[in-house]
Amino acid sequence: MSRVAYVNGRYVPHTEAAVHIEDRGYQFADGIYEVTAVQGGRVIDEEAHFDRLERSLTELRIPVPMGRPALRHITREMLRRNGVVDGLIYMQITRGVARRDHPFPKEGTPPSVVMTAKRVKPHDPKMLQTGVAAITIPDIRWGRCDIKSVSLLPNVLGKQQAREAGAYEAWMIDQNGMVTEGTSTNAWIVTRSGEVVTRALTNAILGGITRKSLMALAAEAQIKIVERSFSAAEARDAAEAFLTSTTGYVLPIVRLDGQPIGDGTPGPMVKRLRELYLQFMASDQHAA
Ligand code: PDD
Repeated sequence: MSRVAYVNGRYVPHTEAAVHIEDRGYQFADGIYEVTAVQGGRVIDEEAHFDRLERSLTELRIPVPMGRPALRHITREMLRRNGVVDGLIYMQITRGVARRDHPFPKEGTPPSVVMTAKRVKPHDPKMLQTGVAAITIPDIRWGRCDIKSVSLLPNVLGKQQAREAGAYEAWMIDQNGMVTEGTSTNAWIVTRSGEVVTRALTNAILGGITRKSLMALAAEAQIKIVERSFSAAEARDAAEAFLTSTTGYVLPIVRLDGQPIGDGTPGPMVKRLRELYLQFMASDQHAA
């Protein structure tokens, strides 16, 4: 089955899918995106992703190009046309195509809407059993990291630095020495006294949908989560560390900057939280 992409109202062969060279997403990174997981044909946390999509657009004053029923319809159509049962949906909305000039184009320029869907193999069980490594890097991003903007250059450079260091993720450190988040994931630790900690939501981090769902699942399971900042030193001294994201779910981090965290293997809390999250994904609880 050859892949199909959605571009501004049309379903086109993936290899031919294109936007104009003067799309403001291409020239100014003037746009936003969402990545949503699909498991067993279910779109996970779809409404929460739409909430965030609409929020990002509103914060950037990009008109919301279509309502949720239309977005839901295109999503289903993309899954069907691409034969995706387990995978990822990517949607991107930019301010549209206009002659290059920094201010917003005059009214009447429609936003560009693009969607792709791809199959993704289940996670390598070895990666889950052994956990992954992370490094720390300075957070050099802008002041509105709560907006899911396609402006991802610091994240791209950070992820590449992680890869070159043999690590899966880079945790970014703010000017106060505190961990903000990973380049494409939220950051968590479990302290030696058993406190499960993740940074509170501000403009400094993206409000992860996986983070949000895991917090709700933890509350149901009477596991207390503390939302506060933690330093790289506290993370290195923690009993456990892990990340959350649409693509990684709940993934143990067992080394930070080359040093083992805890005993260097995934701990009991991350295993439990991961299990809760996998059960949630397999259920129809929040899926459309
Ligand atoms: N990344 N923080 C950042 C900077 C992210 O880019 C992401 C998501 C997250 C986790 O958010 P969520 O749980 O909603 O996926 C945190 C996506 C997956 C990406 O860019 O591919």
